[in-house]
Amino acid sequence: MGEMAQKISGVDREELLKQLHIAYAEEWLAYYQYWVGAQVAVGPMRSTIIGEFIEHANEELKHAQWLSDRIIQLGGTPILNPNEFEKTAQCKYDAPEKPYVMNLLQQNLVAERCAIARYQKICEMTFGKDYETYRISAKILKEEIEHEQEIGDFEEDIKAGIEYGDSMQQ
Ligand SMILES: [Fe+2]
Ligand SMILES: [Fe+2]
Repeated sequence: MGEMAQKISGVDREELLKQLHIAYAEEWLAYYQYWVGAQVAVGPMRSTIIGEFIEHANEELKHAQWLSDRIIQLGGTPILNPNEFEKTAQCKYDAPEKPYVMNLLQQNLVAERCAIARYQKICEMTFGKDYETYRISAKILKEEIEHEQEIGDFEEDIKAGIEYGDSMQQ
């Protein structure tokens, strides 16, 4: 247990751990949403999109690792039972029941926007008070912003492709 780590954090420990647990649960759900989406995806640019989903999935898992490390340093315990993931997360898991790539992209875009808001909140909470948690959440925030951009770009490309196809038929 990081005794000094806990002492120097200028944020209410309980409230901070609560936010880190929420973020941790959301990262596992985000990981699975991307991973399983990559297994079932169908539609245009499938193989490129699958590659991107797997890359994002691995990054979400890495975020879970960083959060777990920080939770433990602060004297907490990461969620031990995956049953708790859905109960704890506020960014909700959206099962890829309609596996067309545009649906998957839209679901992941919503999840990324929720994640951006989560880390923005943790950054605001820790800025100037808990430098280590701030550093980690700012690093994750940067990657979530990149994810949103990449997913949005795929959506635009597919839409542009469909519109071009339609214009050729007229
Ligand atoms: Fe993440
Ligand atoms: Fe993400």
